[in-house]
Amino acid sequence: MKQNKYDEDSFFRKCSQMDRSVKGLAGAGEWKTLERMLPDFHGKRVLDLGCGFGWHCRYAAEHGATSVTGVDISEKMLARAASMEKTDIINYICMPMEDIDFPPSSFDIVISSLAFHYTRDFPRICREVSHCLGSGGAFVFSVEHPVFTAQGRQDWHYDGSGGIMHWPVDGYFAEGPRKAVFLGEEVTKYHRTLTTYLGALAANGFEIIAVEEPQPSGELLNTVPGMRDELRRPMMLIISARKK
Ligand SMILES: C[S@@+](CC[C@H](N)C(=O)[O-])C[C@H]1O[C@@H](n2cnc3c(N)ncnc32)[C@H](O)[C@@H]1O
Repeated sequence: MKQNKYDEDSFFRKCSQMDRSVKGLAGAGEWKTLERMLPDFHGKRVLDLGCGFGWHCRYAAEHGATSVTGVDISEKMLARAASMEKTDIINYICMPMEDIDFPPSSFDIVISSLAFHYTRDFPRICREVSHCLGSGGAFVFSVEHPVFTAQGRQDWHYDGSGGIMHWPVDGYFAEGPRKAVFLGEEVTKYHRTLTTYLGALAANGFEIIAVEEPQPSGELLNTVPGMRDELRRPMMLIISARKK
């Protein structure tokens, strides 16, 4: 049974209140980095895995995609996504991304934002993505960084007076589930090494185009309390790859 945390009432409510849910892409700290890494969508068939409220689907549609398919396990996330739709070229499918089985070369671009750390088997996802992408197709995704997921609890180590000492990285090579606390609730996330991310891409016929570890913008650093601590360790990893 796959975790479907975003369909739980309280988690969905808290997720809906996050900046990135209310403001969309503009509210996502990594968006400017991710946007730079996205390919040209004109005339392209796009698949978004773990599409949530569909912000990236709408972006692709607004930037010339001819069709966009958003896949997500959560009915609630997709219902909200559909309620914001102004175009009929976006099609949402409620299913676990692990079960996708699209015909060969169904898509030109596959994107995914912050969803793959919820799946146990990234190499399998890579295989399916490679199968449904046409030759030369783009695969661009963000995940929580292995440095961020390794220890599991996803919190700093504090000194006796509550000051941040350091970010714990432990059990790095022990891949698998971690009980993280996110939005005040226990959530299962899957830790895997950088080697696994890059190796799975290479093993499934992808070449790496770019790798980024986004940092907060100057504006965020100057306006959001505590944001400077985000410069102490990476939180996200973004990879752009192309099917050979
Ligand atoms: C952090 S949200 C990101 C949503 C969206 N991609 C964004 O960046 O705004 C993670 C999303 O992944 C979805 N998800 C988690 N596990 C999934 C799975 N196994 N298959 C499909 N979707 C999944 C969740 O329901 C949620 O909508």
